[in-house]
Amino acid sequence: MRRKLAAGNWKMNGVHANLDEVAAMNDAAASADCDVLLCVPATLINAIDDAAPNIIAGAQDCHQNTSGAHTGEISADQICDAGAEYVILGHSERRADNGETNKCVREKTNAAWAAGLKAIVCVGETLDQRKSSNTLDIIGGQMAASIPDMATGENLVVAYEPIWAIGTGLTPTTDEIGEVHDFIRIRLEKRFGEGVGRSVRIVYGGSMNPKNVAEISAVSNVDGGLVGGASLKATDFNTIIKALG
Ligand code: 13P
Repeated sequence: MRRKLAAGNWKMNGVHANLDEVAAMNDAAASADCDVLLCVPATLINAIDDAAPNIIAGAQDCHQNTSGAHTGEISADQICDAGAEYVILGHSERRADNGETNKCVREKTNAAWAAGLKAIVCVGETLDQRKSSNTLDIIGGQMAASIPDMATGENLVVAYEPIWAIGTGLTPTTDEIGEVHDFIRIRLEKRFGEGVGRSVRIVYGGSMNPKNVAEISAVSNVDGGLVGGASLKATDFNTIIKALG
């Protein structure tokens, strides 16, 4: 039985003054029967433990190298040292803004695992790719090339995030979400064996909000959400936590 995951991605939002929102999420997390995770800017990772002991802290990226001359970058060991348990890798915004390739995401995932972090590897299609019926090919290709061989149910979460649904208020239909999540599950089982393949959590991201969370999380093989905008305010995120847990 996979435990659901309510994960927030704060992106480049939040300063210490916003930690009162996190404290307000802590109570919902305490009584929830799901894992609650906030992937915050690196400057806030350390503060999550103090503000909200029931919420797991996560980061939004790490470098593929362990240390060295990479000005402005942050290593997996460093985010781990700050208190992160998870790291988001290969988010479409980083693939677009920073030119991250599948190979780069794979290297970063290996670096995260070497540091003892759990990786949330993101995959997703553009609107053009969906319209031209290429969604499953794209997702399959991203999974094959971005996810390293040593995946387990403990160290990997796959996030399906259709690029056209991120921050737009648009979402795929529940049938479309189910089709992709079932496909990801089959690919995981084929590559890593049934035991591992069945234990990896597959979360949905892209305009998930308090209104649509119940419907989306009821879809087969949806094991939770990776939530952007609606994870910034406790009023919204607490509703999502309660719906998942
Ligand atoms: P929104 O929930 O704001 O659409 O963002 C989703 C996302 O990118 C999470 O990683």
